[in-house]
Amino acid sequence: METRHNFGSKLGAVLASAGSAVGLGNVWRFPTEVGNNGGAAFIFIYLICIAVIGIPVMMSEFLIGRHTHANTISAFAKLAPGKWWRIEGIAGVFVAFLILSYYIVISGWTLFYLIESLSGHLQADRDYTLVFDNFVSNPWLPVLAGAAFMGLTHFIIARGVQSGIERSSKLMMPLLLFIIGILVVCSFGMPGSSAGLRFLLKPDFSKITANVFLSAVGQAFFSLSLAMGCLCTYASYFRHDTKLPKTAVGVSVIDTFVAILSGFIIFPAVFSVEGVSVDAGPGLVFITLPHVFNIAFSHVPVLGYIFSSFFYLLLLLAALTSAISLHESVTAYVLEAFHVSRRRAAAIVSIACMTLGVACSLSFGVWSDLTLFGMNIFEIFDFTASKIILPIGGIIICLFTGWYLDRKMVESELTNGGTLRFRLFRLYYFIIRYVAPLAIAAVFVQELLS
Ligand code: TRP
Repeated sequence: METRHNFGSKLGAVLASAGSAVGLGNVWRFPTEVGNNGGAAFIFIYLICIAVIGIPVMMSEFLIGRHTHANTISAFAKLAPGKWWRIEGIAGVFVAFLILSYYIVISGWTLFYLIESLSGHLQADRDYTLVFDNFVSNPWLPVLAGAAFMGLTHFIIARGVQSGIERSSKLMMPLLLFIIGILVVCSFGMPGSSAGLRFLLKPDFSKITANVFLSAVGQAFFSLSLAMGCLCTYASYFRHDTKLPKTAVGVSVIDTFVAILSGFIIFPAVFSVEGVSVDAGPGLVFITLPHVFNIAFSHVPVLGYIFSSFFYLLLLLAALTSAISLHESVTAYVLEAFHVSRRRAAAIVSIACMTLGVACSLSFGVWSDLTLFGMNIFEIFDFTASKIILPIGGIIICLFTGWYLDRKMVESELTNGGTLRFRLFRLYYFIIRYVAPLAIAAVFVQELLS
């Protein structure tokens, strides 16, 4: 069996975990949720959810991973031998596999749009709804784009923890933050952008309903990569001196920062063009934005070219750093459970995921008639993963850490054997035992009812 590597540095650990968290969820899903849920009021609630629920749950995943130094399935099996809790580890790896197989579809779209933008095809006055529909329903192009994206992910994973994941995160995350900076400045400079800023900064508290609160919890979970063992797997590569509470706070801050800045990129741009609505849903990034880029920059097309190319590059980088974390969760298991080489384990996972990915991709075109309860294959995958297994996993992780694990072990892991001070431990413990599981249960029940 191959020796197990750790991340070489604390910075590498933070950037890799932040890479997992920062993804399509930040640049695409967050602005959509903000648009649908009343702008600044949603952001306000979202911040509370990150601080009160997200960070404690992330610390729990970290401590499980680092304590066991094993893939997610073995981690739970080691901590609870012979007990039902082990199912959480199995569900985690299974869902990571499921999510990866449809995540690569959307990621493939971003790769395609990047290429389209770079080759100047997004610069014409076209009907972008039609462009999008034609693309996603084509039997070959999206599959090829998804396969190319899978190839990139595979390449990084096959190189290993330090020279693959850590190295690429250290390169891609700073680049991603740099691009965001450029785009925010560009977006602020657009005429009419102040309406977008007002929308983001002026909370209308009358818009806050139970539903908004629940959407915020769901978004926080997805965005922070919680509840599926992704961060557990990464934490199994943390060194003994990595400070878990501090890392969890750092990752959450970066993730939230990127989400909010994405709002600062998208809304000023969208508001600068009259007649475009904010809550355009999933089409926001692939239909509304190309349209907006064209109209807003019609006088200086080269700026539109730069803006849109940078934007899709940003989306691609975000997707890639998240996809590698999903891939690694599964690869680490295959590698350690079946004693195969990393290259072989990665190849098995890539091929299996890509096979499912083809089905997801075709569900937008030739297989769109294959439905169950009115959902196509892609939607079934997304629904099962994010609406069912994810919330249940979140609750189980809280209960596992708060009620099953020994309190002394939890405290010792979070304080690196008592060498660190963690003054808020009692608050953390209270949240993980009561507040977080109840809040997630509320989300779950509400989502099932709606
Ligand atoms: N957090 C990523 C995003 O924002 C997606 C993601 C990666 C994820 N790993 C995860 C979501 C684990 C849930 C669980 O796009």
